[in-house]
Amino acid sequence: MRTIVVTGGAGFIGSHVVRLLVNKYPNYRIINLDKLTYAGNLENLKDIEQAPNYKFVKGDICDAALLDKLFDEENVDAVIHLAAESHVDRSITNPMEFIQTNIVGTVTLLNVAKSKWAGNYEGKLFYHVSTDEVYGSLGETGFFYENTSYDPRSPYSASKASSDHLVMAYHHTFGLPVVISNCSNNYGPNQFPEKLIPLAINNIKKGNPIPVYGKGENIRDWLYVVDHARAIDLVFHRGKNGETYNIGGHNEWKNIDLIKVLCKIMDKKMNKAEGTAESLITYVKDRAGHDLRYAIDATKIEKELGWTPSLQFEEGIEKTVEWYLNNTSWLERIVSGEYEKYYKEQYTTR
Ligand code: NAD
Ligand code: TYD
Repeated sequence: MRTIVVTGGAGFIGSHVVRLLVNKYPNYRIINLDKLTYAGNLENLKDIEQAPNYKFVKGDICDAALLDKLFDEENVDAVIHLAAESHVDRSITNPMEFIQTNIVGTVTLLNVAKSKWAGNYEGKLFYHVSTDEVYGSLGETGFFYENTSYDPRSPYSASKASSDHLVMAYHHTFGLPVVISNCSNNYGPNQFPEKLIPLAINNIKKGNPIPVYGKGENIRDWLYVVDHARAIDLVFHRGKNGETYNIGGHNEWKNIDLIKVLCKIMDKKMNKAEGTAESLITYVKDRAGHDLRYAIDATKIEKELGWTPSLQFEEGIEKTVEWYLNNTSWLERIVSGEYEKYYKEQYTTR
């Protein structure tokens, strides 16, 4: 029996990680520690909430007393740390929450792991899940490698970069066993609809404008979320102590081209004439400090751990659209209330 705390397990990627671990490892206890911020949603885990090896704990990673008690009571062997404020646009309007959760929260967790494991690190691991955005912005060519210098440019990526540095500092200074992975943009079921793909699907469904920042020429490298969860499973079990692994799908898209693919799929699925959804594309004011291009070189995880993405983009995006169209109540519950207020503030001034 191994007890693993997954932080942020009610969020987009965390829920896929929790599901994979609960189903694949009946002899592990998976404890999902999540504050349930606007981005956390226990509905994401309905199918496994009754599993005997799963437990949910509502709590904040900044709450040292709560973490202390959790580690004492549950005999925690490992942490897979995903809890974070994760949306770049929100980090531009409200950076402080990013500093608090992503930096202070991570160091609070590190302190508790260090003191509870107290130098007896046999079988222990602190796995920090991070982003490729810590490497900054690429020009038209080149890739991010594990040894690319950090050059974060948004409050979000700067807070994630700080947390990566702190994790490595605890490894080098205190010997804490750690591993970090830096992944490219994820897409798939259960993503909060403030992010580009679910936002566009929802707006097309409703016949609302699809806001494209700037000229739509920024490039992202998209990976299906279940493939990220598979990579996390591999890195957790076979990643080398103190190392970093880049994860990405070799799947670069200009935002505008990606939106056009989505438009075509949506027209087909909604039985609309071709071009209906594309007519909703609306160019809006660019994001401040908008990184031009992200692209991951994933050779290390492919060669060392044998990971490759299982889904081609065409299949993944089709599955994603189907999921959002089949789960309208999930989406409707989120896009009311608080979210509506956010949406108005974010987009009416652009
Ligand atoms: P998300 O915003 O969907 O989920 C974050 C989760 O963390 C939510 O369930 C939220 O309730 C929880 N949380 C937030 N603050 C907390 C706190 N103080 N204490 C406890 N729980 C808290 O995020 P996501 O997209 O699933 O991203 C998960 C992780 O993966 C993040 O660390 C992010 O930086 C990283 N990442 C994301 C992407 C991506 O494309 N989404 C890509 C690479 C890396
Ligand atoms: P996002 O999903 O917010 O991820 P990230 O900023 O972490 O890469 O955005 C993906 C890309 O889409 C990014 O270049 C910004 C752009 N974008 C838009 O053009 N319009 C939108 O409404 C949003 C949310 C994003």
